[in-house]
Amino acid sequence: MITISHLTKSFSGQKVLDDISFEVKKGEVIALVGSSGAGKSTLLRALNYLETADSGQLSIDDFTVDFQTISKEDILTLRRKLSMVFQQFNLFGRRTALDNVKEGLKVVKKLSDEEATAIAKEELAKVGLTDRQNHYPRHLSGGQKQRVGLARALAMKPDVLLLDEPTSALDPELVGEVERSIANAAESGQTMILVSHDMAFIQQVADRVLFLDKGNIIEQGTPDELINHPKEERTKAFFSNYKRNFV
Ligand SMILES: Nc1ncnc2c1ncn2[C@@H]1O[C@H](COP(=O)(O)OP(=O)(O)O)[C@@H](O)[C@H]1O
Ligand SMILES: [Mg+2]
Repeated sequence: MITISHLTKSFSGQKVLDDISFEVKKGEVIALVGSSGAGKSTLLRALNYLETADSGQLSIDDFTVDFQTISKEDILTLRRKLSMVFQQFNLFGRRTALDNVKEGLKVVKKLSDEEATAIAKEELAKVGLTDRQNHYPRHLSGGQKQRVGLARALAMKPDVLLLDEPTSALDPELVGEVERSIANAAESGQTMILVSHDMAFIQQVADRVLFLDKGNIIEQGTPDELINHPKEERTKAFFSNYKRNFV
């Protein structure tokens, strides 16, 4: 069980996360939905300390941190437990796909080259990239790069996988292959917090949707409850606007 409590963050006096609390069960897939600027990326980034929250606590089983007083050692532990997939992939351009996946295993997990290679190959196979393992990012399509990003994050065996709009930088014809790999990971029980605007995908993979507006969780429920039967005014407005544009 992952518990996030009283997470708060302001940028120059503007509250971007306003006392956010929620729980994530093991194996659960949470979709974080909301308009641009709602605070979705800041929330994910605060969870693994890429952004410093003004206050808040996180606990995963018996590991508990307070973001205000977290130690350097706990930051490293936190990042091992929550690994992130970025919209813009963030791969090392001068390293092959295999070496990108091995990096965290060697540097963070301190595994031997042999162990790291074995795990990295296994994770690349799961996302269908065995034949691309020695390619550099510039010789990979956007969809392949993002599958390397996913393999790299999953190789760390994180308690929670954080995905920030993992397909929104991709050409439309490449979205499916990345979504299939994410769905496979979800089916094998990977706990996730996913930011996405793709409601069809959310309906496919998410157990629960949190609707975020101006740094507050306004409403939460199953994908069907939120997308098709929203209760709050702002949630209704968001989804009816979404349906007008995309369905
Ligand atoms: N590093 C930053 N410095 C100042 N303001 C920021 C920074 N990052 C995000 N913000 C602001 O915080 C708000 C929430 O941003 P963000 O979390 O990126 O929203 P979302 O991902 O939901 O689109 C926005 O108003 C954004 O401009
Ligand atoms: Mg964002």
